[in-house]
Amino acid sequence: MSNIVLIGFMGSGKTTVGKKLAVRMGYSFLDTDQYIEEQAKMKISDIFARQGEAAFRSLEDCMLKKIAGMDRTVVSTGGGIPMREENRALLKKIGTVIYLEASEETLWKRLAGDHTRPLLAGADPRGKIHALLSEREPVYRRAADQVILVDDRNAGYIAKEIEKIVKSA
Ligand code: S3P
Repeated sequence: MSNIVLIGFMGSGKTTVGKKLAVRMGYSFLDTDQYIEEQAKMKISDIFARQGEAAFRSLEDCMLKKIAGMDRTVVSTGGGIPMREENRALLKKIGTVIYLEASEETLWKRLAGDHTRPLLAGADPRGKIHALLSEREPVYRRAADQVILVDDRNAGYIAKEIEKIVKSA
């Protein structure tokens, strides 16, 4: 199937880059967080607050299975999706998996003051980013077919780079 799947940490630009990439490729665009919010008719932060993280992860698993049959789509994924092995296998089946790699410094610049991500809520968000990134970075790398560095690059440039990679594959 011809799809492009963007993975990476919160704040790495998956949604912004994904929308631009979809326009360049003439593909549809799907954001997994937005899809879940529409289906659940609730904000992600409310799902976490009312039902807990485990319930949110189950919604992610179900949603991935539901969307697995799509074609010509750029999919921007929530940062936790590749952490489950089953999901990593499914993402690879769905399409070419691109990891948007951002340094901790860049992520902190973008995420400081963010109130939409429940995993960073409360004390010491910087420490939370550090701990989560250390755990996730090797997993993202393993899950990806290609890695793109996003530090100091704008979304338009990154989208163009991904288009080149995909078209030359
Ligand atoms: C999460 C990332 C978020 C969202 C949820 C959990 C994570 O998506 O799915 O808050 O576990 O990294 P973004 O990566 O789009 O911010």
